[in-house]
Amino acid sequence: MADDASGLFGTPTPRVDGVAKVTGAARYASDEPVSNPAFAYLVTSSVARGRIRSFDLEAARSVPGVLEILTHENVGGHAGTPPQMGGDQTTTTMESDKVWHDGQIVAVVIAETYEAAREAAHRVEVSYAGEKPSASFDSPGVTEEPHKTSAEKTDPKVGDASAAFAAAEVRIDARYSTPTQHHNPIELFTTTCVWEGPHLTIYEPTQSMYGLKATVAKQLGIDPAQVRTVSRFVGGAFGSKGTVSSRTAWIAIAARRLGRPVKLVATRDQGFTIATYRAETRQRVRLGASRDGRLTALTHDGWEITSRPSGYNVAGTETTARMYACPNVSTNVHVVHADRNTPGFMRAPPDTPYMFALESAMDELAHELGMDPVELRRVNDTRVDPIDGRPFSSRSLMACFDQAAERFGWRRRDRRPGSMRDGDWLVGWGCATATYPSNIGPAAARLTLTPHGATVGLAGHEIGTGAYTVVAITAAHSLGLRIEDVRVLMGDSELPPVTIAGGSNNAASTANAVVKVCEEARRRIAQAAANDPAGAFHGVEPAALRLAGGSLTGPDGRSEPLAKALGRVTAGALEIHAENLPEGLPPSALEGLYKGQAQMLRGTGRRDVAAFAFGAHFVEVRVHRLTREIRTPRVVSAFSAGTIVNPLTARSQFMGGTIWGLSAALMESTEIDRRVARYVNDNLADYLIPVNADIPDIEVIIVPETDDRVNPLGIKGIGEIGIVGMNAAVANAVFHATGKRIRDLPIRIEKLL
Ligand code: MOS
Repeated sequence: MADDASGLFGTPTPRVDGVAKVTGAARYASDEPVSNPAFAYLVTSSVARGRIRSFDLEAARSVPGVLEILTHENVGGHAGTPPQMGGDQTTTTMESDKVWHDGQIVAVVIAETYEAAREAAHRVEVSYAGEKPSASFDSPGVTEEPHKTSAEKTDPKVGDASAAFAAAEVRIDARYSTPTQHHNPIELFTTTCVWEGPHLTIYEPTQSMYGLKATVAKQLGIDPAQVRTVSRFVGGAFGSKGTVSSRTAWIAIAARRLGRPVKLVATRDQGFTIATYRAETRQRVRLGASRDGRLTALTHDGWEITSRPSGYNVAGTETTARMYACPNVSTNVHVVHADRNTPGFMRAPPDTPYMFALESAMDELAHELGMDPVELRRVNDTRVDPIDGRPFSSRSLMACFDQAAERFGWRRRDRRPGSMRDGDWLVGWGCATATYPSNIGPAAARLTLTPHGATVGLAGHEIGTGAYTVVAITAAHSLGLRIEDVRVLMGDSELPPVTIAGGSNNAASTANAVVKVCEEARRRIAQAAANDPAGAFHGVEPAALRLAGGSLTGPDGRSEPLAKALGRVTAGALEIHAENLPEGLPPSALEGLYKGQAQMLRGTGRRDVAAFAFGAHFVEVRVHRLTREIRTPRVVSAFSAGTIVNPLTARSQFMGGTIWGLSAALMESTEIDRRVARYVNDNLADYLIPVNADIPDIEVIIVPETDDRVNPLGIKGIGEIGIVGMNAAVANAVFHATGKRIRDLPIRIEKLL
């Protein structure tokens, strides 16, 4: 890690935006005041496949206050489809009468009030030429094909996995499945559009300020310079606000047509179909090992559901193929097209489902071998990527296992399933590996330095993770100022671009750019000081001058106040714009940054190193002997992720991920009525998520780690790793408690009866 004399990195720091958030001063997109808005309400399709034959809008138009009703008949041709990440087409009815899935936007009603828009929307009559839809795996009419491979999505392979599997002393061959899940961020999907002449401002919660700007400009056929996006705070995203949904262009067109701002707040149930979700997967894992536990073969096959036009898939085999030393690996991923909305990122998109399968299979192997599951990981730990031999930039997997195991009391575990009891409760202890690739993207930042303090501006994304605080800490650290002397501006595309806030790259991407812009300020101030014949630093090597404690300081300890040193450069404000292009990315990535393309240096696909954060989950489950009720009284999870900029918010991220992992293991599933391909539990009452009473004592251990290869600041990213592997740790604990291996999530009572 960079020299941190300030001690700010690693010091628990309350969120700089905490007070604004808890007092309601923080403006989420739909809170932004606009003058005289009209209100939109979406009409969504009630069939999952077919065509729209006609609309009867008469009853809707007669509702007092209705201003306009948009359908494909009157917006078609005014806007194209927003591409999904990767450029594939997605599902929309904007441009045609085609219905791709249930709950697709087919009309937008705009009225003077929300209530009038809603009433009129319910009176819109749509006549469909419906066809029988295919809902999911095993439905007649789905089509299957291998996923498209690319530089980012290969099918990792090495050696001869099938021969090695056939020859293995011990074999596991098992099939697993994970269900559809929806993010359900508390903040709903909202869009407010305002035109001033040819200029469009979009207030919308997003994880990609410049991506939203560029995509909507392209859809509308206007210059991106005419589009401004504003998203100062996002009330939860988890991937669901990472790509552009079809709603935005509808609302932009509505606002242009009415000549007044239009505001949409979609309903909770609409959020299930107008945005993305975690697609259901099926997987098969084959492990071959020698009697001493060493892996000799790993084959991981995956199948993922997607929409008809999109080939979206997550292919977590990029991760699972690299977890353990193994000379023979083979992976394959298939997409299965159904009449569904296009899925998308959801917290650790590839790793969450695929590590469930791998880590369950590892537990099955440990059981088969009569070996402790922690020892099985140790035997197969590796310093190099088993696929192509790159060294890991750092890898503290076993340190995480050892520290969490110690804290958990793992050595008191009786390995035999069903052997540990407490009255009527069967007690099970399980563990699993957590991991997430360490990604970093290009980013730019603007610094304005005056004698009164610094302002750092960048179009970054505060999705609840503490992004403002990371920037403030980094700038204060770099400029030798106090946190309270730094003001951070984010969430506005008038500010310099930052890559998409996805793939846990945000802290690494923004902090490395902020260090760069601050270093440029230091360099100029130091140069001016060295050049000043009347100053204290005349003739000193500028590189030896440092900013610390509000002063410019020389190697001999001599110093002067920053305000004085700054005065040599400017009587007003020093303003600097700097860009950071991570080493290993082509220069075109910087160009792409300004065009809203999300190019990242991925931990899975770097040439120099394999870059991952690691962790270990330990969980205790209790299954009631008679009712099979499942409780989880205790979790200990340890993580190691390089430089931790702010341990206070990092702990929250780790813990939040871990909680979600418990939830995903035991509760969450979007149920589909297979006859009509419709989500059934599309609300927060029926979509099961845990309440406080379900969440036990969760202990998070942060294992210190220094990584000087992953990026200059050694930051690995922490937003997603917490959820990864937790589902398997729970399933493994349930097996230990009951002797019953549940390979299909979620693990609910009925599966244990
Ligand atoms: Mo995150 S699911 O990579 O937006």
